[in-house]
Amino acid sequence: MHIRILGSAAGGGFPQWNCNCRNCRGVRDGSVIAQPRTQSSIALSDDGENWILCNASPDIRAQLASFPALQPARRLRDSAIAAIVLLDSQIDHTTGLLSLREGCPHEVWCTEMVHQDLSTGFPLFPMLSHWNGGLKHNLIELDAEPFSIPACPGLRLTAIALRSSAPPYSPHRGNPHPGDNIGLFIEDTSTGGKLFYAPGLGQVDDGLLAWMRRADCLLVDGTLWRDDEMRVCEVGDKLGSEMGHLAQSGPGGMIEVLDGIDGPRKVLIHINNTNPILDIASPERAELDARGIEVAYDGMGIFL
Ligand code: MLT
Ligand code: MN
Ligand code: ZN
Repeated sequence: MHIRILGSAAGGGFPQWNCNCRNCRGVRDGSVIAQPRTQSSIALSDDGENWILCNASPDIRAQLASFPALQPARRLRDSAIAAIVLLDSQIDHTTGLLSLREGCPHEVWCTEMVHQDLSTGFPLFPMLSHWNGGLKHNLIELDAEPFSIPACPGLRLTAIALRSSAPPYSPHRGNPHPGDNIGLFIEDTSTGGKLFYAPGLGQVDDGLLAWMRRADCLLVDGTLWRDDEMRVCEVGDKLGSEMGHLAQSGPGGMIEVLDGIDGPRKVLIHINNTNPILDIASPERAELDARGIEVAYDGMGIFL
């Protein structure tokens, strides 16, 4: 299984256009050593030719330009993106669909909850129906057998419902439903490689832990170092726990969770611009290094 990290930042990207927090200011003026990052998205393939886009970020145009395999130019108009899987209906994971309109129709895989949000509060499905067939909805069922996507028949995908909250424009905001947000367990049936991918992960229970222990690589929520990071950085008042993101530090945090799992490669993704781990000289980054936890970057490739 080929995995390409197209975008490793959380919503807003890094640096964020209007932000002057220590990291954003520092990466602009050179006082912080960090790699800029686009918004959260990865691509998966079983053969390196046909790709599944997982989440469609507002930065997709730059992300496509940065990865020639997605633009094979076999015909006058062409793309190697054969299917799109959405893990939630957040802006940073769906807005890129608007930029893909010239290539409609697209096969889009998402849960009923995500399809509802994208048909009502953020109506991408009805809007894009005006472009050559728009988005074709393929239902991702929960508590179901693994499914496969015709473009990559060698991959078996299992959707795992995660505890989170729907976005502000969702009709069921404040009333969480299974399927608002999922993680994916993906197995390559030829290599046996197994990935667990969850860019938005608020809580880890025993059932989820069992999935995580089966994976060869964990690509999981790295949004915030501390739960109150937005407050401490004075850029907002929401806690990570309110946004469905488990912070890395502290009791029960992501570091503790990952420390309890032996074996898999551990990679954090969906990093918010306030997170000190973006600064490669920070003590927080050194702590991750010491524990064998990596920080995803744009352009990172993983083969399983
Ligand atoms: C989130 O995952 O909470 C988002 O990145 C928020 C956003 O895109 O505004
Ligand atoms: Mn996000
Ligand atoms: Zn910032």
